[in-house]
Amino acid sequence: MTSSAALSDNGSHAAALRERRLRGAGVVGLGYWGPNWVRNLQNSAMCDHVAACDVDPVRRHHIKKLYPMAAAYEGIEPMLADQSIEAVIIATPVHTHWELARRCLVAGKSVLVEKPLASSTAQCAELIEIAEARGLVLMVGHTFEYSASVAKLCDIVNSGELGEIFYISSIRTNLGLIQKDINVVWDLAPHDISIIVALLGRAPESVNCQGRSHYNPAVEDVAMLTMNFSGNLIAFAHVSWLDPNKIRRITVVGSRKMLIYDDIALQEPIRIYDKGVSVLPYYDTFGEFHFSYRYGDILAPRVAETEPLKIETEHFLQCVLDKRRPRSDGFAGLRVVSVLEAADESLRRHGAMVPVRYGAAR
Ligand SMILES: NC(=O)c1ccc[n+]([C@@H]2O[C@H](COP(=O)([O-])OP(=O)(O)OC[C@H]3O[C@@H](n4cnc5c(N)ncnc54)[C@H](O)[C@@H]3O)[C@@H](O)[C@H]2O)c1
Repeated sequence: MTSSAALSDNGSHAAALRERRLRGAGVVGLGYWGPNWVRNLQNSAMCDHVAACDVDPVRRHHIKKLYPMAAAYEGIEPMLADQSIEAVIIATPVHTHWELARRCLVAGKSVLVEKPLASSTAQCAELIEIAEARGLVLMVGHTFEYSASVAKLCDIVNSGELGEIFYISSIRTNLGLIQKDINVVWDLAPHDISIIVALLGRAPESVNCQGRSHYNPAVEDVAMLTMNFSGNLIAFAHVSWLDPNKIRRITVVGSRKMLIYDDIALQEPIRIYDKGVSVLPYYDTFGEFHFSYRYGDILAPRVAETEPLKIETEHFLQCVLDKRRPRSDGFAGLRVVSVLEAADESLRRHGAMVPVRYGAAR
């Protein structure tokens, strides 16, 4: 190959690569979480230009100091008017999600909305409808679905190594951050619901939820959400902003083995316990059972150390480039909000069992 042919080959390769990049993407909301999105977009090779937007000048200044190259807008309108912005990530308080996402979609931009997708199933359904009608990507920020640990958990559960899954128990607690517009179930449980649905490949049929408010009477700060699945399967999610410890732990108990996933463990986030119970085949009288308990080895499978948000960013940008449906699409967002709505109704009815109405999300 001559050097000029090689050059032209390199040139067309570079042009092809350029075609695989977005001209620009923006982040709305630069509070606690939004800057992580700006960092990941800045670091991504799939996006040429990054814009950021917040109504708060202090937060805009903060981002400009960290990323002088990023454009910083006060309101969403100038960002939507920027023709180079093809996709927008919304990381604002939950009560603003629907309105901001709707404006982005109507302006022809693909959108990723942080969890939960919106404040009601009706709002989620409307966003899905607009995105589908316009051929735009609508994705929800179910971060844990992009975590290497959760991917490993899914592999383990699907392999049958744990046997029949009996129950899942999740604890997600910390001191703070108390929210003003949503209760602790809407703030923290979307993570547990999306992980549990991913693990089981199905969504709960009904929920019971109990909780209490201690600081803001309208907002529960501690709660226990019970999710009832078909068959004998049950899952619990204990969520709290009032706990001395930061805990992010999920226990999966199966008929053969048990597993603990500790998301804040510095090493070995997953441990598989070869522990279980056997019913001995003989017994003296009807109704009398003998159990034997197995205490076997503990195995810690290797889990890749990747930032879930990096994987999530790349998945979103790739889906926008390919006009492809994301893994956590609008329907996944609607499914989680359907569970949250049922949980709210159960909270109001002091823990009564409430069926989850999925509508189009099922
Ligand atoms: N996926 C995760 O692990 C994760 C973690 C934390 C937060 N979140 C989600 O991220 C979102 C934001 O949470 P946070 O803790 O960063 O909130 P935050 O209150 O710290 O920040 C929100 C920011 O949005 C700005 N804002 C509000 N309305 C706006 C508007 N109309 N236009 C532009 N800017 C506006 C505020 O000024 C503020 O700076 C929530 O949906 C939350 O559930 C997700």
